[in-house]
Amino acid sequence: MAGGAFVGLCFIASCASKGPAFEPLRIQRGAVVCEHPIATQVGLDILNAGGNAADAAVAVSFALAVVYPNAGNLGGGGFALVVEEGKSPTALDFREVAPADTDPKFYLDAQGQLVSKRSVRGPLSVGVPGSTAGMFALYKQHGSGNLVWSDLIEPARRLAAEGFGIDAHMAEDLLNPSVQACFNQAALDVFYPGGATLKEGELLVQKDLAKTLKAIAVQGPSAFYKGPIATAMLQVLAKEPLPDGGAAQGGVITAKDLEGYSVRWMKPLLGSFQGMELICMPPPSSGGLVILQALAVLEGLPQMAEAQVGQEDEFDGFVSENLLHWWIEALRRAFADRAEHMGDPDFHDVPVAQLLSPEWILERRVSIGSKADLSVGAWTPRPATESAETTHLSVVDIDGGAVSMTTTLNGSYGSGIMVEGAGFLLNNELDDFSIMAGVPNQFGLIGNEANAIEPGKRPLSSMSPVIVRDGDGAIRLVLGSPGGPRIITAVFQVLLRVLLLEQDLPDALAASRFHQQWRPETTWFEGAQGPGWDPALLERLRKRGHPIEVRDSRAGSVQAILIGPDGWPTASSDPRRGGAGGVQGKGIAQAARP
Ligand code: GLY
Repeated sequence: MAGGAFVGLCFIASCASKGPAFEPLRIQRGAVVCEHPIATQVGLDILNAGGNAADAAVAVSFALAVVYPNAGNLGGGGFALVVEEGKSPTALDFREVAPADTDPKFYLDAQGQLVSKRSVRGPLSVGVPGSTAGMFALYKQHGSGNLVWSDLIEPARRLAAEGFGIDAHMAEDLLNPSVQACFNQAALDVFYPGGATLKEGELLVQKDLAKTLKAIAVQGPSAFYKGPIATAMLQVLAKEPLPDGGAAQGGVITAKDLEGYSVRWMKPLLGSFQGMELICMPPPSSGGLVILQALAVLEGLPQMAEAQVGQEDEFDGFVSENLLHWWIEALRRAFADRAEHMGDPDFHDVPVAQLLSPEWILERRVSIGSKADLSVGAWTPRPATESAETTHLSVVDIDGGAVSMTTTLNGSYGSGIMVEGAGFLLNNELDDFSIMAGVPNQFGLIGNEANAIEPGKRPLSSMSPVIVRDGDGAIRLVLGSPGGPRIITAVFQVLLRVLLLEQDLPDALAASRFHQQWRPETTWFEGAQGPGWDPALLERLRKRGHPIEVRDSRAGSVQAILIGPDGWPTASSDPRRGGAGGVQGKGIAQAARP
């Protein structure tokens, strides 16, 4: 596909070059899916008003900043992939940036030991936010022109000003003492008005946030990066204490950092699997690279064909012991490369071509034996050849457009620091850097120089928006997930279940998941969430050397739209959370987990 970065001989799926023999499949109705039904409805309203997928994605993102404040945001960042009929796909990086005055020493105590809390909470955890600039760039570059910028913000502004009834998930969150403990006073005043915890169905009104949205609607993103809102951000960062009570450091973000923030338009990373073209996010996302590498390793296993027909030891009618073993081992290898080689490409030369080269894929593939190999390392140059709260939204429109967007504050409610008078939370994205080489971050991920913190650098991300097209260039699947590194493994498993095992989308989303990220070596399997795993199957994997843990926690929350062979979309939200999908003319489905 013109404009994409095809890498290696395995990545040959582009179809436009063939010249479609038939009229490509037409999408019959626009569709939206995200983690909150109110925001899904906002997206459908925008499509019905003549907006396209980009318009709807922008409006849904602003609405999520109001109704899903643990991850939807103005004070965070993210990635978006955009496909428009007849044009090359594009990737938008609106990730947060480390401030110009940052210094790794700020995260160390007097003895030179890392104080991990400082990158997770307090002013030193906050990166220069990218979401507002990102949404404006998406609107300008890909909006339909049928709607103006303020039209896309108005639904969110109204929800903030008039309030909305909070759902069971948010009510449960607010009762959690650790959530309450992370908030500054301004956030407490919003989420616990008059000191009372909001209950399910009670109105959450966010007057300050409504004013901020109004200013952005009228003046554009400069209202956020300059003037009173920017000043309020700097003031709150200057007065917030360090979480460990260490010597006051204050925030190091300056007015210049805010004014200087810019988004990056990039070429997506393109690959293939099962004859489909996969459009993925390039670094500083690690997700695209890990998913493409692991799928390429798997596709060449001759036994994969056999895995598609029934086997005696299948779990949930689909996944056999062999399949699971290969999936885990492919991920173990790809995550080893992530830890060693991936970071912001403006600062570190990520060896994308080498990590996806046929030679390396082959080497990885033949290294997978019948037992788990816990000793695998990362790719090394050959002389011969040379961070849990994020949210995802997917949209398609009837003009053949699609947006796959993942946006984040990093942890749930980010740093917990709300900007006084402006009503939005700031991210704690700087924990996604590898602050000290080899020391795990809040997600247990390790890294080294490739992802070291440096002024002006973007932290490595696991956010993995993906768009899948068929051999005629028609959009067939749009998906992504929150969940730190579990984003990668959740998206990977849904891709395998839909494209390889041909499961229905809702079943593929509901199926139990596992997570493997190289270090720690243990693969964990979902227990209480969903149907769980057959203990006998896990026991057999243990016998093959896999360290295994079964956890009562969830692995991702995939928000996906599948276009069927008749062109009709199915918009499905992961049953692990309370999101909802909606299709134009059909309305929105009940929340996935009401
Ligand atoms: N903050 C989660 C990620 O970007 O991976």
